[in-house]
Amino acid sequence: MRAASVSDYRELARRRLPHMFFEYIDGGSYAETTLARNVADMEAIALRQRVMRDMTKLDMTIETLGQKMAMPIGLAPVGMSGMWARRGEKQAARAAAAAGVPFCLSTVGLCSVEEVASTGTAPWFQLYMLKDRGYMRELIGRAKAQDCPVLVFTVDLPLPGARYRDIRSGFTGSSGFDAWMNTAWDGITHPAWLWDVWVNGRPHTLGSVAAAMGGKGRVNDYLSWIARNFDRSVTWKDLDWVRETWDRPIVVKGVLDVDDARDAGRAGAQGLVVSNHGGRQLDGVRSSISALPAIAEAVGGELEVYMDGGVRSGLDVLKALALGAKACFVGRAWAYALGAGGEAQVGRMLATLKSELAVAMILTGCNSIREAGRALLDEAG
Ligand SMILES: Cc1cc2nc3c(=O)[nH]c(=O)nc-3n(C[C@H](O)[C@H](O)[C@H](O)COP(=O)(O)O)c2cc1C
Repeated sequence: MRAASVSDYRELARRRLPHMFFEYIDGGSYAETTLARNVADMEAIALRQRVMRDMTKLDMTIETLGQKMAMPIGLAPVGMSGMWARRGEKQAARAAAAAGVPFCLSTVGLCSVEEVASTGTAPWFQLYMLKDRGYMRELIGRAKAQDCPVLVFTVDLPLPGARYRDIRSGFTGSSGFDAWMNTAWDGITHPAWLWDVWVNGRPHTLGSVAAAMGGKGRVNDYLSWIARNFDRSVTWKDLDWVRETWDRPIVVKGVLDVDDARDAGRAGAQGLVVSNHGGRQLDGVRSSISALPAIAEAVGGELEVYMDGGVRSGLDVLKALALGAKACFVGRAWAYALGAGGEAQVGRMLATLKSELAVAMILTGCNSIREAGRALLDEAG
């Protein structure tokens, strides 16, 4: 099958990846109510069709935090992506650079920040706060040394959410011979993945934090290690601590509440991502797109407001921009494409989002993405 849409990449990833990895990407927490809301609320928004305007000139470039972007889309941090394709973070970073958009590297990627930067473009770096502050300082220093332009500080994962699919699939919480057999069978029955990642994609350790994990940093220790080592004591004051090492823009990721958004501004963040972690953390909270307008209105004047969650097409991107986002990040969309076939498929997926965005702009009469606003929406629809 030749993929035409994000849901096609999802299907290709489902076929190519071991079941437990596909479920890890695809799933949300608990009853997956928020995961479903992210998509459903986005779908429910109607664009306002306008015709007979000269739409020969189209500008979808933006500049944010000193970064030029070819379109208002970035690749959100996705942990462990090196397990979906050989040295996956590097492949995705190359595809993003070719498309002129930022790639944000997760703290818990397989490729370290140095390995990704070796592609020639420094990624945005996503930070999870570990209890070991000495290690944190070192890690922030490493991202700085690689010239990462932006630090994305994720604040909605003091512990992993209750992800039941991971238990059912055997990805977490199982051990012993049966678990080993289950994992081995899952790998053997996906030979393209086995050859690409299992045989040729080593080492399977979490590059940036392997040292903090006692030199091992194996992916199967990952979620239990997070639960033990992520720091729940973090408050807004810790942003001052981060800034002692980091003197470039900081984006706080995982804000759903207007008061928290104001606090992020007071604490000195330059941007925030309206996000519920793709419905993977606290289930039952509202969708990102429904939280966006009030937050953009409250702090959009002082902070760069981005959003993620449920963005599956270029049409969705325009909807989010109309509701106040400066740019959108996609998580699963690129994880599926990477799992479907590496860099080439991530590149094709980004090209698809771009052409969908172009169609949406042309048929709403939006020449310049910087002028996107509520007038693009059919609010009665
Ligand atoms: C498989 C997977 C792993 C993720 N890992 C991280 C991570 O390491 N750090 C982080 O800040 N967010 C992580 N996220 C959340 C994404 O950055 C993003 O918020 C979310 O995927 C957006 O929703 P979407 O998947 O509907 O686009 C992860 C998401 C997925 C699907």
